[in-house]
Amino acid sequence: KMNAFIDELMSKMTLDEKIGQLNLPAVGFDVTGPILSQGVDEKIEKGLVGGVFNTFTPQAVRKLQELAMTKSRLKIPLLFGYDIVHGHKTIFPIPLGLSASWDMGLIEKSARIAAREASADGLNWTFSPMVDIARDPRWGRISEGSGEDPYLGSLIGAAMVRGYQTNSLANKDAILACVKHFALYGAAEGGRDYNTTDMSLIRMYNEYLPPYKAAVDAGAETVMVSFNDINGIPATANKWLLTDLLRNQWGFKGFVVSDYTGVSELIPHGLGDLQTVSAKALEAGTDMDMVSEGFLTTLKQSLKEKKITQSVIDLACRRILESKYKLGLFEDPYKYVDEERAKTEILSVQNRLDARNIAAASMVLLKNNNQLLPLKKNAKIALIGPLADNKRDMIGNWSAAGDWKKAISVLEGLKNVAPEMDITYAKGANLVDNAAILKQINFNGADIIADAKSPQQLIDEAVATAKKADIAVVVLGESALMGGEATSRTNLDLLPNQKELLKALTATGKPVVLVLMNSRPLTLEWEDANVPAILETWFSGTESGNAIADVLVGNYNPAGKLTATFPKNVGQIPLYYNHKNTGRPYDGISNEKFKSRYIDSSNDPLYPFGFGLSYTDFSFSPVKLDKSSMKSGQTIKATVEVKNTGNFDGQEVVQLYLQDIYGSVTHPVKELKGFQKIFLKKGESKQITFTIDTEMLKFYNTDLKFAAESGDFNVFTGPNSRDVSSAKFSFTL
Ligand code: IFM
Repeated sequence: KMNAFIDELMSKMTLDEKIGQLNLPAVGFDVTGPILSQGVDEKIEKGLVGGVFNTFTPQAVRKLQELAMTKSRLKIPLLFGYDIVHGHKTIFPIPLGLSASWDMGLIEKSARIAAREASADGLNWTFSPMVDIARDPRWGRISEGSGEDPYLGSLIGAAMVRGYQTNSLANKDAILACVKHFALYGAAEGGRDYNTTDMSLIRMYNEYLPPYKAAVDAGAETVMVSFNDINGIPATANKWLLTDLLRNQWGFKGFVVSDYTGVSELIPHGLGDLQTVSAKALEAGTDMDMVSEGFLTTLKQSLKEKKITQSVIDLACRRILESKYKLGLFEDPYKYVDEERAKTEILSVQNRLDARNIAAASMVLLKNNNQLLPLKKNAKIALIGPLADNKRDMIGNWSAAGDWKKAISVLEGLKNVAPEMDITYAKGANLVDNAAILKQINFNGADIIADAKSPQQLIDEAVATAKKADIAVVVLGESALMGGEATSRTNLDLLPNQKELLKALTATGKPVVLVLMNSRPLTLEWEDANVPAILETWFSGTESGNAIADVLVGNYNPAGKLTATFPKNVGQIPLYYNHKNTGRPYDGISNEKFKSRYIDSSNDPLYPFGFGLSYTDFSFSPVKLDKSSMKSGQTIKATVEVKNTGNFDGQEVVQLYLQDIYGSVTHPVKELKGFQKIFLKKGESKQITFTIDTEMLKFYNTDLKFAAESGDFNVFTGPNSRDVSSAKFSFTL
């Protein structure tokens, strides 16, 4: 039925109208790239637009859809896209934080709520999930993904696609997901945004591609191409990537959109003039051109000059029309325009409750000496820091249509959760005092107002406040604008003025709790050595303050686990748990010279992948295997007993890692292959069993075949990637 409908429609379309479907201009209130599209209304009327992005609200969408439906010749409805990355108006934690929940149910729920809200507001396409594996916290966009692990990243990518698209795009609150940025965007050299990647195929297939594939397998209807060069050919013009791999090997059936001016950026990449690069991008498999208008202005000429064929234009046009058909837009172009639903479903009480719970689940307790946390509800606390009485930054970067004025600050949250707490607030430091950073991040007018008081006055005031309290709770970190696109950093310390404040507060001798908000792993060696309690809260969304307060007072026992390694210093980067062993591995203890190590730093991270504490303690028995060998098709059970030995009920993420010890190629020292998030009452213990099967032993070999090899394997289980017990088994094909 769909094919017949589209055949019929395409038979009536002129070449210009077909090319028009491949055009995606930016229109509206948000600026997410370097230039803005011009004359969009007129182009819609002429049938020269396939969809628009960066606008929302039922009223705005209705207006533009009406132009297409009443003024354009063939009345083809428009797509409405937007970066609904971690919530639409009810904002959830930034994705790196969300991933730290290790809870697929909650992650899917966050995407579901985002889609329900966004669809009520007229949107039918989100530019999410972002599944780029990132091992470099200098890269600001590490905040938008799920960290460094391909297995976890794959589960999360698939969960988000399900949340957005539901089981059928025909549902009124289902929206198109867009897997991005295809591919390897997170491997940009030096952590500098938009930079080149150059990578062996075997590494790509094993370490970087799995999350994209998992999201495609979960049915993602669209894919966004990345900005970067891949082994000499930028992704936007990379036929191997977009056609051989994505379509021919993986069977992707939806449409591919470029990133913002990705097509015209092929010119500075060095591939030719606008006409040449537009033809190359289309030929390679980019179906829709975001903002460049290279397709709109040059494809006709290229066809005339026989540089491209009619069939390649037709194919791209057909793919876009198919997505519109699946959404039901031809039946009802206003399906996504629902003022009533927008009024009742957006920022509803239930959505905010879910956001609060999801935010609490994303928080990671990095340190808690002498059980300083949880705070007593009647404690006398000094609440200090530029992020303590702050709403603006709570919703983080890429917070879509989120309104920071609706966010809850930490100060408000503590007052809500513990009204009897005696709280005195002092700002203590400006959020950003560094002129160069301020200039960079102020690009869209967001104001970071410096205090009239001098830095020393701010610190003195904070110190005096701390001295009068039992405990200082200090909320420090980055500005939300220091994360996301185009925010690469070379220094990952707390900004100097904030660090000075922290040093002054620890010098008072009062116990200090450091609450962190940041878009990426920071280098916190000094903080770890000198501050007794540290809670990582990322930017956790609309309900930030309430969720942080829930955790600080122990209404919620933290259980988040890091999904990206926290290095000790920037020189260690890239630092990730699933690294190779090398021929000269360093044991971290001896002082041997000719080992793979630094002379001025340890190899170890400050906080490893999978790490996160709880207010309670868990003990893990050594892992036991039910047999010491297995054949292809059989399974081995790995069992570990986990006991809650502390004073609180709590959740733990029991993690399973494998190592293929010898093989035809080298393997990482460990790879996450399973985990179970469990709840144990105080004193309770549970046997946790993982079933290891042949699929879990497979990898992409030098022929890029996904296959297992006979040999010995190590099994590791534990509460993080470092503190594990191990056992060994052998496998025969
Ligand atoms: O979706 C984004 C992408 O992640 C980065 N460039 C702009 C796009 C649209 O806003």
